[in-house]
Amino acid sequence: MSVVGKSFEASSDPVVAYTSSLTTKQPPLQIDQNETLSNAPLAMMHGAPEVFTFGDNFIRAFGGKRILDIGTFTGASALAWALAVPDDGKVITFDIDHTNYRKFGVPIISKCENTFKKIEAVEGPAVENKLIAEGQAGTFDFAFIDADKQNYSNYYEKCLTLLRKGGVIFVDNSLWNGDVCDPKKRENPMCGAIHDANVKIFQDDRTYSALLNLGDGTHVAFKK
Ligand SMILES: C[S@@+](CC[C@H](N)C(=O)[O-])C[C@H]1O[C@@H](n2cnc3c(N)ncnc32)[C@H](O)[C@@H]1O
Repeated sequence: MSVVGKSFEASSDPVVAYTSSLTTKQPPLQIDQNETLSNAPLAMMHGAPEVFTFGDNFIRAFGGKRILDIGTFTGASALAWALAVPDDGKVITFDIDHTNYRKFGVPIISKCENTFKKIEAVEGPAVENKLIAEGQAGTFDFAFIDADKQNYSNYYEKCLTLLRKGGVIFVDNSLWNGDVCDPKKRENPMCGAIHDANVKIFQDDRTYSALLNLGDGTHVAFKK
């Protein structure tokens, strides 16, 4: 029996269901945003609510204000972080294509102007973002990496540069439905890239880290 997966997946394990039911907390706007799970194509890409609650805990606990969100899709993760930061906080969310965000996420999130205004959506390849060149290194508190898996190690490097000391990175899908545990399945380029990022983070002495069985796997790294 595989004890890994997002709590909203039909095949979710009883342990996943139990831990998630006693972890996930969602305000009304987030419950509305869950609608995108039934409407958007490839809805399984939607982040796991239990991961959002865990990230929300971190952001609130250390007073995080500036957030990087790599991979917007319909905006579920961007919304989670926008709800966690204070009124003067900011979430920059990147996606190669914001069609799903505009179509499914914006109509729901914009119902709360105060939350919506905290989100800046940047469309284009996330790895090519100009934040470091613009002098924003060391200015972010939290980063969520959840876009193309082949770039996971590149995103980790960029986010580490952009974070301040003590800032936190969550890398989503770090267990890839358990496939990363199987050397044969790591021959798949996406699975192999996630495994490589997991090893890189574990061996990186610039961060403290832990690979957690939360959602589809959450690799947490704290910048020293
Ligand atoms: C798993 S989804 C993100 C889910 C979202 N974080 C959430 O919690 O619901 C991954 C997203 O990464 C985007 N993506 C894929 N390649 C990308 C790239 N090179 N740069 C930026 N975004 C990319 C896809 O368009 C997709 O919307």
